Amino acid sequence: MPARWEERVPPSSRLPGFYKLTPTQRAALVGEAMGLSADDLAALTPDGGLQVAQADTMIENVVGVYGLPLGIATNLTVNGRDVLVPMAVEEPSVVAGLSYAARMVRVGGGFHADADEPVMIGQMQVLDVSDLAAARLRLLAARADLLERANAVDPVIVGLGGGARDIEVRAFPSSPVGPMLVVHLLYDARDAMGANAVNTAVEALAPEVERISGGRVALRILSNLADRRLARAWGVVPKEELAIEGLTGDQGVRRIIEAYAVAVVDSYRAATHNKGIMNGIDAVAIATGNDWRAIEAGAHSYAARSGRYAPLSAWERDADGNLVGSIELPMAVGTVGGATKAHPQARVALGILGTRSAREFAGIMAAVGLAQNLAALRALAMEGIQRGHMALHARQVAMAAGATGDLVERVAERLVSEGVIRLDRAQAVLAEYDE
Ligand code: MEV
Repeated sequence: MPARWEERVPPSSRLPGFYKLTPTQRAALVGEAMGLSADDLAALTPDGGLQVAQADTMIENVVGVYGLPLGIATNLTVNGRDVLVPMAVEEPSVVAGLSYAARMVRVGGGFHADADEPVMIGQMQVLDVSDLAAARLRLLAARADLLERANAVDPVIVGLGGGARDIEVRAFPSSPVGPMLVVHLLYDARDAMGANAVNTAVEALAPEVERISGGRVALRILSNLADRRLARAWGVVPKEELAIEGLTGDQGVRRIIEAYAVAVVDSYRAATHNKGIMNGIDAVAIATGNDWRAIEAGAHSYAARSGRYAPLSAWERDADGNLVGSIELPMAVGTVGGATKAHPQARVALGILGTRSAREFAGIMAAVGLAQNLAALRALAMEGIQRGHMALHARQVAMAAGATGDLVERVAERLVSEGVIRLDRAQAVLAEYDE
């Protein structure tokens, strides 16, 4: 019996020359590393993916299914475990950027990551309360009973070690509609993203909250500012990794920290800095069938928690002059529920990731975000993003001209060095090599 996906680890996520293979060869290699079956691999082909009939059961008014490139980023190591990262994204440079940055951090010992228990927040809005302060205390005093009632709703999740954890009550004496209480139910969703479980639990608690408070419960819904479910990652880039032609490693470190500093002082830059982080996180969320809008909402609201929008990551220099990056952000991801199992490619993407729990997955996501941020800062501060984009664009043009194997790189290099990235020129260069 092959080991279950979740127990598998690729022999190494370092796959030199992976980019030179065809998509079918890459899929076969990843499949072998992660123990995917022929059916799993078939799910990665257009015929094996999400079918219209299935899509029709997922949302309304379906007219078809929508494809995105699914790529695998290499080189990532998190807490000593190698990870192949499935990414669904339309933007060039994202998969290559993550692979490149992960390789640099790998030299420094890889990423370290950690995540809180998967505790989500469910909110209940209580209106028409006459004694706001006392109602708050009555609700807090009923904590044990409220938690017990919330846990009666889903014995399965409680059996898995999850369920209701705490009650918080915040009083807002003035709001546009008068005094208001907002009651929080903290709920451990285990390996689920948790929206369904939390929403069901707050729905169930509402009548008792009304009885205790004497008020009327209106909204009952989770909060996407999942700040009890933070994920963190950090890693070191040895300064030698940042030496390029014309720039020492020390200078490379300085340039990246300078680039980060703009995001610290200026929210206009922080937005783009964080967008680069989310390029990676969203791509993995989409590939694995996770709710990337929820993750986005959590990330940006967390970035603004001080009242000023700030970068989610930090970059500094250690005592030896190496570059050290760190990141912390809410990470409401699941390995069960939602589209994770229903969507055939999402199911296989989770298999490729080989992640064993939502908590471990959250840490990997934080590492992905930090690596993506490093790739962007390095490209911006050390090369100029256009050059990196140009190289990728040139490869695409070379392939469109018919280049295969080693010729893709050779033709692309010629196009970049000539500064002419056009199909006709690629065809002419290719013809020269073919002679
Ligand atoms: C592009 O999708 C993302 C970047 O703009 C991120 C950044 O500027 O840090 C390159």
